[in-house]
Amino acid sequence: MEVIIESTQEAASLLAAKMIAALVHSKPTAVLGLATGSTPLGLYRELARMHRDEGLDFRQVTSFNLDEYVGLGPSHPASYHHFMRENFFQHINLPAQNTHIPDGLSTDIPQTCEEYESSIRQAGGIDLQILGIGSDGHIGFNEPSSSLASRTRIKTLTPRTRADNAPFFGPGEEVPQHVITMGIGTILETRQVLLLGFGEKKADALAAAIEGPISPLVPASALHFHPRAHAILDEAAASKLQRNEYYRHVFTNKPLWQRL
Ligand code: GLP
Repeated sequence: MEVIIESTQEAASLLAAKMIAALVHSKPTAVLGLATGSTPLGLYRELARMHRDEGLDFRQVTSFNLDEYVGLGPSHPASYHHFMRENFFQHINLPAQNTHIPDGLSTDIPQTCEEYESSIRQAGGIDLQILGIGSDGHIGFNEPSSSLASRTRIKTLTPRTRADNAPFFGPGEEVPQHVITMGIGTILETRQVLLLGFGEKKADALAAAIEGPISPLVPASALHFHPRAHAILDEAAASKLQRNEYYRHVFTNKPLWQRL
C-alpha cells in the first residue's frame, strides 16, 4: 500500500481530487466507487469546483456507492442517497441513471445484493474506489469479523459504529441496526483504491490497518491484498504510524514518471 501523508485534510482532499480528475480525463467513461461520511466531503467539494470552473465532465461516468442503511428511503436526510445528492451529485453533471446506491427499502435484500454485484460487472468493474475508514477499522460497512472475501450483503452494525454515525441522525432518532454494503471481496476487485483518513480519531484504526497484521478484525487491513491501494492521510491521522518518515521519503522521491 502506498501511504501519502499531506500536511492538512484540505491538501489530502485536493490530491485525491486530482487523481480522480486525471482518471476521468484519461477515461471519460470511468466507473467510480463512492463513499459517504464526513471524510470525502472536501474531495467532493473540490471535484464539484473542478466541474464548475474547469469543465471536468462526468457525463459518461458511472458510479457505485459502497453502502446504504436498511429501512431508509432516498428522501430520508440520513440516507446515503440523500447524502450523495446533497454533497456531490447535484453539483456535477453525472446523469442520475449512471449512479447506483444499494436500495435500503428493498423487500428482497439477497436479490438486491446479487443485482448490485452484477450491475458492477456489467459496467466493466470499478476503476477507482474511494474509501473512508471507521474508527473500528471498517471499510464500507464491513464491520470487524467480516469475511475478507465477502460480497455485497446485509450487515449488522456494531454499537460503536452506530454511535459514531448518530450525529447524522435527528435527535432521538435511532441509527438503523442493518445496512447493505459492498463486501471486502467486492472492494478488492476494484482497479485502484484511495483510502482517505483524517484526524486523530482515525490514527489507531489506520495504524492497525497499515502496519498491523492482516485480520478480519481490522477490515481495512485487507487492502494489503490490493495491488493498487493508496492511503492519503493528514498528519493527525498518520501520527501513530511507525514508518511515517519512510512513507514521506518514498513519496518525495518518486520517479517523475510515477507522479501525477
Ligand atoms: C460510515 C461509512 C463509511 C465511512 C465511515 C467513516 O460507516 N459507511 O464508508 O468511511 O462511516 O465516517 P466518517 O468519514 O464520517 O468518519
